[in-house]
Amino acid sequence: MCSVRDETTVSAADIARLAAVGRTAVSNWRRRYADFPQPVGGTPASPLFALAEVEAWLRSQGKLLEVPLVERAWQELRARAGDDLQLAAALADAGDLLVKSQDSAPAAVRELAVALGAADAFEVLLRRFQEGQARRAAVTPPEIAELMAALTGGAQTVLDPACGTGELLLAARDHGGACRLLGQDAAADPARLAGIRFQLGGSDATVRTDDSLRRDAFPGVLADTVLCDPPFHERGWGHEELTADPRWIYGLPPRLEPELAWVQHGLAHLAPGGLAVMLMPAAAAARPPSTPGGSSGSRKRATGPMGAGAASARSASRPRSRMPRNAAATSRL
Ligand SMILES: C[S@@+](CC[C@H](N)C(=O)[O-])C[C@H]1O[C@@H](n2cnc3c(N)ncnc32)[C@H](O)[C@@H]1O
Repeated sequence: MCSVRDETTVSAADIARLAAVGRTAVSNWRRRYADFPQPVGGTPASPLFALAEVEAWLRSQGKLLEVPLVERAWQELRARAGDDLQLAAALADAGDLLVKSQDSAPAAVRELAVALGAADAFEVLLRRFQEGQARRAAVTPPEIAELMAALTGGAQTVLDPACGTGELLLAARDHGGACRLLGQDAAADPARLAGIRFQLGGSDATVRTDDSLRRDAFPGVLADTVLCDPPFHERGWGHEELTADPRWIYGLPPRLEPELAWVQHGLAHLAPGGLAVMLMPAAAAARPPSTPGGSSGSRKRATGPMGAGAASARSASRPRSRMPRNAAATSRL
């Protein structure tokens, strides 16, 4: 019977990374060496090779001493996923097994967990996953997450209503000492990955999957701090359905300015004296008070105390997004 590792396939780019050479070297090896492993799948333009055969060949040529453990674990997950679109789910499945018992995890993931500890092993694999994602903007960059967490100054309970894989909440835990983490995200896979990170890290955390603006998973819950890097320019955020929503105490957010709905969602979850730190598009601070699509003066009302924000900092560059963003802090009095 074949083990999963025996079935793992790798591309030419993966082989180059394994042997720490460029792609051209791999093409040259394929041309020059008759015993270079034959493709076992893929297409002529993008062939796939059996990892076990490639490893054996590289070793026999003295081109490889040891395939790094992280790479083996990663390729093992890719083989399990079958399709890169399923990678997040495969990573989450492996994470669930690590939470239950290290012994039940896939072989190389288990080896990695023995070497690094389950939490760090999962972090390493998550980073590897995030590096390969086209939509890097779906992750709050660590330096911005740290800045936002630093602005909160040691909250106990922290909510992120668009938590993704949980960078902001983890920054709040690691830098601000937050001990109760609440997260919600509309996308199931990131929310699942965030939940696993918190479990492996031993945090008191609750993560829910759903649309925060339409179906708040934490109704009535008040947090010391709300941290949020919400989606920008999302036209279908629910303006028409949510016109009478009690969260809009500063006025109905204009249809074309969803970020103002997120600000008020955050404020609705703040305990008295709490602080919301929101990452906003820079344009939100520069727009005139009255915006087409909103009622007269609606923006001024919808931002409420944002106008007197306690702190504001221009963000560092954001991968794959040219949009300048501001971190703005606003408090509930
Ligand atoms: C920029 S990312 C946030 C990243 C996250 N703060 C982190 O720590 O990495 C924006 C997130 O908002 C989520 N999102 C978009 N619309 C949403 C909605 N209506 N309700 C909840 N989450 C939403 C997306 O799935 C995405 O994960």
